[in-house]
Amino acid sequence: MLGWFSNKQEELITVPLNILETDIHSHFIAGIDDGAPDLAVAVSLIKKMSSLGYKKAITTPHVMSDFYQNSSEDIMEGLKMLQRELIKESVDFQIDAAAEYYIDFAFEQKIGKEKFLTFGDNYILVELSFIEPIKNLFNIIFKLQLEGYNVVLAHPERYNYYTLDDYKQLRSRGVFFQINLLSLIGYYSSDIKLKTAKLIKEDLVSFAGSDCHNMHHAELYKECEKEVLWHDLVKRGTLLNHTL
Ligand SMILES: [Fe+2]
Repeated sequence: MLGWFSNKQEELITVPLNILETDIHSHFIAGIDDGAPDLAVAVSLIKKMSSLGYKKAITTPHVMSDFYQNSSEDIMEGLKMLQRELIKESVDFQIDAAAEYYIDFAFEQKIGKEKFLTFGDNYILVELSFIEPIKNLFNIIFKLQLEGYNVVLAHPERYNYYTLDDYKQLRSRGVFFQINLLSLIGYYSSDIKLKTAKLIKEDLVSFAGSDCHNMHHAELYKECEKEVLWHDLVKRGTLLNHTL
């Protein structure tokens, strides 16, 4: 029963994840980042996503100048191998690829010179340092927008140096926000869950992503379905996953 309008028994109510239809953040390309180490694990993770009701995943390997120097060609080659393996294993699931670009000086230098991998309405998924803010973020975002990209910031709730006002400023500059499903159930920390709640309350969340790296993550998504914060996010009608 989809009874999210009944507050009385809200904690008992399940809102299925299948309403998302498409996941936009995961690490399923085998052996190129800290996600699936091989094709067998990648297929298991995708089977799990399928069992949760997802129809499609746009998988987003890390692109990071220091740790994961993945080119677009590496990612697309890995995607083809994964798609072939899914066919071989008779897994009926649509898988596409983009990337999770780490914003730093090296990334900034590529803007305008390299065509980045995107999804949907030319969305580019970007992440930031978890430790300290980058000084010229607004300028980098503006440069990306001049190139026609719609910037989606991955897991904004995990950058503890940003306040709600910072997020409002970013949103007013056209940045979309993607929260992680596991933030909704307090997987990272109670502070991160609290920040997620604030972002939801201000209608700042456009996408929910699994950020799935491994089976431990995948086993936990089901818990979100009973989470009041998830119900609230769905009720607000800001999510765009289903449009992709
Ligand atoms: Fe990620």
